[in-house]
Amino acid sequence: SSGEAPEFDYLFKLLMIGDSGVGKSSLLLSFTSDAFEELSPTIGSSMIDLLRVGLESRLIGLRIVVIGANVGSVDCSTNGVAIRISYVMYNPTYPQKLVYGVDFKVKHVTLGGKKLKLAIWDTAGQERFRTLTSSYYRGAQGIIMVYDVTRRDTFTNLSDIWAKEIDLYSTNQDCIKMLVGNKVDKESERVVSKKEGIGFAREYGCLFIECSAKTRVNVEQCFEELVLKIL
Ligand code: GTP
Repeated sequence: SSGEAPEFDYLFKLLMIGDSGVGKSSLLLSFTSDAFEELSPTIGSSMIDLLRVGLESRLIGLRIVVIGANVGSVDCSTNGVAIRISYVMYNPTYPQKLVYGVDFKVKHVTLGGKKLKLAIWDTAGQERFRTLTSSYYRGAQGIIMVYDVTRRDTFTNLSDIWAKEIDLYSTNQDCIKMLVGNKVDKESERVVSKKEGIGFAREYGCLFIECSAKTRVNVEQCFEELVLKIL
């Protein structure tokens, strides 16, 4: 061992789910694109680390092929490290068939006196990418369920589709869920009331917040409240 202080006290896997277009990627970007730690000197080891974090021993039987990684791209912002890895997975039974693509980002935060490393998985909402879903959920300590307050279908789909999927695939009994109503900056177009969000969250036994990835209102709180609950 090197004798150096550990880089973090806890490592959490968080997952973002919800219909296409509700703003999952925007929320993640809004959360991770400022106040990053210094750039990591070795991209190679970070990549390996990311793969280990997200995948080691969790996706046995899947062959993972890294097709691209970039640091400091548009997504990764100017002042920090957001490492965005795009990779594709192949089902070993059908190695020629592309199964799906996933992105995730890493953010270091200090909360409750603990140094945390968050690996946040951003899943594709589109139906055509939604195969092998169980691997998204495996090992997740927190699930962020996002809907768009201006689109009722994205809200009803959370109970009709997404909640059922969580029950089916999320094996972690202690997994904390957070319901997020996004795009509150479009107040004049709102069709799902805050009261309805609160009602669903109460019924489903999860945390609840309304936010805007655009104005950044409540974005940090969303992730922080979830993580504090996991701690
Ligand atoms: P998929 O990747 O297809 O699952 O979609 P997604 O949920 O990741 O949505 P994405 O972040 O790509 O956002 C979809 C659209 O909504 C984009 O045009 C965003 O700019 C917009 N958007 C996201 N969040 C907000 C918000 O808080 N307010 C407003 N006004 N627009 C938003």
